[in-house]
Amino acid sequence: MQISMIINGQEKAFNVEPDEYLSDTLRSAGYKSIKRGCDKSSCGACTVLLEGKPILSCSYLSFRANGKKVTTLEGEREEAIKLGSLIIKEGGDQCGFCTPSLILTTIALKRENANPTEEDIKHYTNGNLCRCTGYVAQLNGIKKYLGVE
Ligand code: FES
Ligand code: FES
Repeated sequence: MQISMIINGQEKAFNVEPDEYLSDTLRSAGYKSIKRGCDKSSCGACTVLLEGKPILSCSYLSFRANGKKVTTLEGEREEAIKLGSLIIKEGGDQCGFCTPSLILTTIALKRENANPTEEDIKHYTNGNLCRCTGYVAQLNGIKKYLGVE
């Protein structure tokens, strides 16, 4: 079936299968920041923003995104560099597999909540699992990025 999405501000057309998931459609189109960790809605690595809100693209059928705005990390280069650098400065330079999803989720939080607390950050990002498990440096970088003391 034919669908179109506005991806990172650009309208793109796709021919998708009825049972095709958004992670597959987007990765095939070159948006490789989207990772496939579990493919079972558990790890958060496939997170994209749909109309500005984080969703798990491995369990979201592509046709449901028809006509909607999708944001991947490729569309948030400036913010990604800012937050990524802060995480690295805090010592969080691990394998990086979970980082695109964590950064996108944090960007969504920033736009939704101008004054988050540390608890808000933990709650909002708790679906983004890190296999390297170094959450402290990541959290410290996020706190700096969001201006949380
Ligand atoms: S790959 Fe989608 S939640 Fe793990
Ligand atoms: S940094 Fe390796 S999975 Fe998170």
